[in-house]
Amino acid sequence: MKFFIDTANLNDIREAAELGILDGVTTNPSLMAKEGISGQSNIEKHYKAICEIVPGDVSAEVIATDFKGMVEEGKRLAELADNIVVKVPMIKEGVKAISHFTEIGIPTNCTLVFSAAQAILAAKAGATYVSPFIGRIDDTNWDGMKLIKHIAEIYAIQGYETEILAASIRSSRQISDAARNGADVVTCPLSSIMGMFNHPLTDIGLEKFLADYRKLNG
Ligand code: G3P
Repeated sequence: MKFFIDTANLNDIREAAELGILDGVTTNPSLMAKEGISGQSNIEKHYKAICEIVPGDVSAEVIATDFKGMVEEGKRLAELADNIVVKVPMIKEGVKAISHFTEIGIPTNCTLVFSAAQAILAAKAGATYVSPFIGRIDDTNWDGMKLIKHIAEIYAIQGYETEILAASIRSSRQISDAARNGADVVTCPLSSIMGMFNHPLTDIGLEKFLADYRKLNG
Protein backbone atom coordinates (compact mmCIF):
# COMPACT_ATOMS: atom_id res chain seq x y z
CA MET A 1 0.00 0.00 0.00
CA LYS A 2 1.26 3.47 -0.88
CA PHE A 3 1.46 6.19 1.73
CA PHE A 4 0.48 9.77 0.89
CA ILE A 5 0.37 12.72 3.25
CA ASP A 6 -2.80 14.83 3.12
CA THR A 7 -1.54 18.36 3.67
CA ALA A 8 -0.12 21.45 2.01
CA ASN A 9 2.17 22.15 4.98
CA LEU A 10 5.78 22.01 3.78
CA ASN A 11 7.23 21.19 7.22
CA ASP A 12 4.85 18.25 7.69
CA ILE A 13 5.66 17.02 4.18
CA ARG A 14 9.42 17.25 4.89
CA GLU A 15 9.00 15.44 8.22
CA ALA A 16 7.05 12.59 6.61
CA ALA A 17 9.49 12.42 3.66
CA GLU A 18 12.41 12.06 6.10
CA LEU A 19 10.85 8.84 7.42
CA GLY A 20 11.57 7.30 4.02
CA ILE A 21 8.07 5.85 3.72
CA LEU A 22 6.30 8.64 1.83
CA ASP A 23 5.03 7.90 -1.68
CA GLY A 24 3.13 11.08 -2.44
CA VAL A 25 1.04 14.06 -1.34
CA THR A 26 -2.61 15.02 -1.65
CA THR A 27 -3.85 18.58 -1.28
CA ASN A 28 -7.21 20.25 -1.71
CA PRO A 29 -8.40 23.87 -1.75
CA SER A 30 -9.17 23.76 2.01
CA LEU A 31 -5.66 22.49 2.84
CA MET A 32 -4.08 25.20 0.64
CA ALA A 33 -6.24 27.86 2.33
CA LYS A 34 -5.19 26.51 5.76
CA GLU A 35 -1.58 27.36 4.82
CA GLY A 36 -2.68 30.85 3.69
CA ILE A 37 -1.73 30.17 0.05
CA SER A 38 -3.77 32.37 -2.29
CA GLY A 39 -3.47 33.78 -5.80
CA GLN A 40 -2.65 31.74 -8.88
CA SER A 41 1.11 32.37 -8.89
CA ASN A 42 1.52 31.61 -5.16
CA ILE A 43 -0.58 28.47 -5.51
CA GLU A 44 1.53 27.29 -8.45
CA LYS A 45 4.79 28.12 -6.60
CA HIS A 46 3.56 26.13 -3.62
CA TYR A 47 2.76 23.07 -5.74
CA LYS A 48 6.24 23.28 -7.26
CA ALA A 49 7.79 23.45 -3.77
CA ILE A 50 5.85 20.33 -2.73
CA CYS A 51 6.92 18.50 -5.91
CA GLU A 52 10.55 19.31 -5.15
CA ILE A 53 10.31 17.66 -1.72
CA VAL A 54 8.44 14.55 -2.85
CA PRO A 55 9.28 12.74 -6.11
CA GLY A 56 6.03 10.70 -5.94
CA ASP A 57 2.56 11.75 -7.08
CA VAL A 58 1.30 15.14 -5.85
CA SER A 59 -2.44 15.78 -6.27
CA ALA A 60 -3.34 19.37 -7.19
CA GLU A 61 -7.05 20.13 -7.35
CA VAL A 62 -8.84 22.15 -10.02
CA ILE A 63 -11.18 24.93 -8.91
CA ALA A 64 -13.22 25.14 -12.13
CA THR A 65 -16.42 23.09 -12.24
CA ASP A 66 -17.05 23.17 -16.00
CA PHE A 67 -15.37 20.86 -18.54
CA LYS A 68 -13.50 23.57 -20.43
CA GLY A 69 -12.30 25.29 -17.26
CA MET A 70 -11.18 22.02 -15.66
CA VAL A 71 -9.26 20.99 -18.78
CA GLU A 72 -7.49 24.35 -19.04
CA GLU A 73 -6.66 24.43 -15.35
CA GLY A 74 -5.61 20.77 -15.25
CA LYS A 75 -3.25 21.16 -18.20
CA ARG A 76 -1.65 24.17 -16.54
CA LEU A 77 -1.24 22.29 -13.26
CA ALA A 78 0.22 19.26 -15.06
CA GLU A 79 2.88 21.48 -16.62
CA LEU A 80 4.16 22.59 -13.19
CA ALA A 81 6.02 19.30 -12.55
CA ASP A 82 6.22 15.74 -13.86
CA ASN A 83 4.70 14.32 -10.69
CA ILE A 84 1.51 16.41 -10.62
CA VAL A 85 -1.75 14.44 -10.60
CA VAL A 86 -4.79 16.55 -11.47
CA LYS A 87 -7.48 16.21 -8.82
CA VAL A 88 -11.00 16.50 -10.23
CA PRO A 89 -14.33 16.37 -8.35
CA MET A 90 -16.84 13.57 -8.95
CA ILE A 91 -19.39 15.57 -10.93
CA LYS A 92 -20.65 15.14 -14.50
CA GLU A 93 -18.25 17.69 -15.95
CA GLY A 94 -15.48 16.21 -13.82
CA VAL A 95 -15.95 12.71 -15.27
CA LYS A 96 -15.85 14.23 -18.78
CA ALA A 97 -12.63 16.03 -17.88
CA ILE A 98 -11.08 12.86 -16.41
CA SER A 99 -11.89 10.96 -19.65
CA HIS A 100 -10.19 13.73 -21.60
CA PHE A 101 -7.13 13.76 -19.33
CA THR A 102 -6.93 9.96 -19.71
CA GLU A 103 -6.91 10.34 -23.50
CA ILE A 104 -4.07 12.86 -23.43
CA GLY A 105 -2.06 11.01 -20.77
CA ILE A 106 -2.50 13.31 -17.76
CA PRO A 107 -2.88 11.35 -14.50
CA THR A 108 -5.95 12.13 -12.39
CA ASN A 109 -7.35 11.71 -8.90
CA CYS A 110 -11.15 11.65 -8.77
CA THR A 111 -12.10 13.26 -5.47
CA LEU A 112 -15.23 13.61 -3.32
CA VAL A 113 -16.29 10.00 -3.86
CA PHE A 114 -18.90 8.66 -1.44
CA SER A 115 -20.39 5.64 -3.20
CA ALA A 116 -19.41 2.53 -5.17
CA ALA A 117 -21.44 3.82 -8.14
CA GLN A 118 -19.32 6.98 -8.24
CA ALA A 119 -16.17 4.84 -8.02
CA ILE A 120 -17.32 2.87 -11.09
CA LEU A 121 -17.72 6.12 -13.06
CA ALA A 122 -14.22 7.23 -12.03
CA ALA A 123 -12.72 3.90 -13.14
CA LYS A 124 -14.62 3.93 -16.45
CA ALA A 125 -13.24 7.41 -17.13
CA GLY A 126 -9.74 6.03 -16.54
CA ALA A 127 -8.90 7.92 -13.34
CA THR A 128 -5.47 7.03 -11.97
CA TYR A 129 -6.82 7.26 -8.41
CA VAL A 130 -10.30 7.30 -6.89
CA SER A 131 -10.64 9.01 -3.51
CA PRO A 132 -13.42 7.73 -1.23
CA PHE A 133 -13.71 10.01 1.84
CA ILE A 134 -13.69 7.59 4.77
CA GLY A 135 -13.90 10.01 7.71
CA ARG A 136 -16.69 12.08 6.18
CA ILE A 137 -18.71 8.91 5.53
CA ASP A 138 -18.19 7.81 9.14
CA ASP A 139 -19.41 11.28 10.19
CA THR A 140 -22.78 10.42 8.60
CA ASN A 141 -23.02 7.19 10.61
CA TRP A 142 -22.33 4.95 7.65
CA ASP A 143 -19.18 2.86 7.36
CA GLY A 144 -16.32 4.31 5.30
CA MET A 145 -14.33 1.08 5.45
CA LYS A 146 -17.26 -0.86 4.00
CA LEU A 147 -17.11 1.45 1.00
CA ILE A 148 -13.38 0.72 0.52
CA LYS A 149 -14.16 -3.01 0.64
CA HIS A 150 -17.03 -2.71 -1.85
CA ILE A 151 -14.95 -0.67 -4.31
CA ALA A 152 -12.03 -3.11 -3.98
CA GLU A 153 -14.38 -6.05 -4.72
CA ILE A 154 -15.92 -4.32 -7.74
CA TYR A 155 -12.56 -3.24 -9.16
CA ALA A 156 -11.16 -6.77 -8.77
CA ILE A 157 -14.21 -8.40 -10.42
CA GLN A 158 -14.26 -5.89 -13.27
CA GLY A 159 -10.51 -5.65 -13.72
CA TYR A 160 -10.44 -1.85 -13.31
CA GLU A 161 -6.95 -0.45 -12.92
CA THR A 162 -7.82 2.72 -11.00
CA GLU A 163 -6.09 2.74 -7.61
CA ILE A 164 -8.23 3.12 -4.50
CA LEU A 165 -6.93 6.04 -2.46
CA ALA A 166 -8.51 6.07 1.00
CA ALA A 167 -8.90 9.76 1.90
CA SER A 168 -10.35 11.73 4.80
CA ILE A 169 -8.47 9.49 7.22
CA ARG A 170 -8.31 10.89 10.74
CA SER A 171 -6.64 8.14 12.80
CA SER A 172 -3.85 5.59 12.58
CA ARG A 173 -6.39 2.80 13.20
CA GLN A 174 -8.15 3.79 9.97
CA ILE A 175 -4.87 3.36 8.09
CA SER A 176 -4.52 -0.33 8.95
CA ASP A 177 -8.27 -0.85 8.41
CA ALA A 178 -8.00 0.72 4.93
CA ALA A 179 -5.06 -1.57 4.13
CA ARG A 180 -7.04 -4.62 5.30
CA ASN A 181 -10.06 -3.66 3.21
CA GLY A 182 -8.15 -3.30 -0.05
CA ALA A 183 -6.99 0.33 -0.34
CA ASP A 184 -4.03 0.73 -2.70
CA VAL A 185 -3.11 4.08 -1.16
CA VAL A 186 -3.92 5.85 2.04
CA THR A 187 -3.64 9.60 2.51
CA CYS A 188 -3.67 11.10 5.96
CA PRO A 189 -2.33 13.96 8.09
CA LEU A 190 1.11 13.71 9.74
CA SER A 191 -0.52 13.09 13.15
CA SER A 192 -2.09 9.83 11.92
CA ILE A 193 1.20 8.65 10.42
CA MET A 194 3.01 9.41 13.69
CA GLY A 195 0.27 7.65 15.67
CA MET A 196 1.23 4.41 13.93
CA PHE A 197 4.45 4.26 15.93
CA ASN A 198 2.66 4.15 19.26
CA HIS A 199 2.63 1.01 21.36
CA PRO A 200 3.33 1.01 25.11
CA LEU A 201 5.06 -2.39 24.92
CA THR A 202 7.60 -0.97 22.45
CA ASP A 203 8.46 1.82 24.90
CA ILE A 204 8.59 -0.53 27.90
CA GLY A 205 10.67 -3.09 25.95
CA LEU A 206 13.18 -0.52 24.74
CA GLU A 207 13.56 0.94 28.22
CA LYS A 208 14.32 -2.55 29.59
CA PHE A 209 16.85 -3.37 26.82
CA LEU A 210 18.71 -0.12 27.47
CA ALA A 211 18.59 -0.55 31.27
CA ASP A 212 20.03 -4.10 30.98
CA TYR A 213 22.77 -2.84 28.66
CA ARG A 214 23.66 -0.02 31.06
CA LYS A 215 23.93 -2.48 34.01
CA LEU A 216 27.04 -4.05 32.42
CA ASN A 217 28.32 -1.24 30.25
CA GLY A 218 27.63 1.77 32.38
O1 G3P B 1 -7.96 15.44 0.66
C1 G3P B 1 -9.29 15.09 0.92
C2 G3P B 1 -9.60 14.54 2.28
O2 G3P B 1 -8.56 13.76 2.75
C3 G3P B 1 -10.15 15.52 3.26
O3 G3P B 1 -10.19 15.04 4.58
O4 G3P B 1 -10.54 15.32 7.02
O5 G3P B 1 -11.26 17.15 5.44
O6 G3P B 1 -12.51 15.02 5.55
P1 G3P B 1 -11.18 15.66 5.72
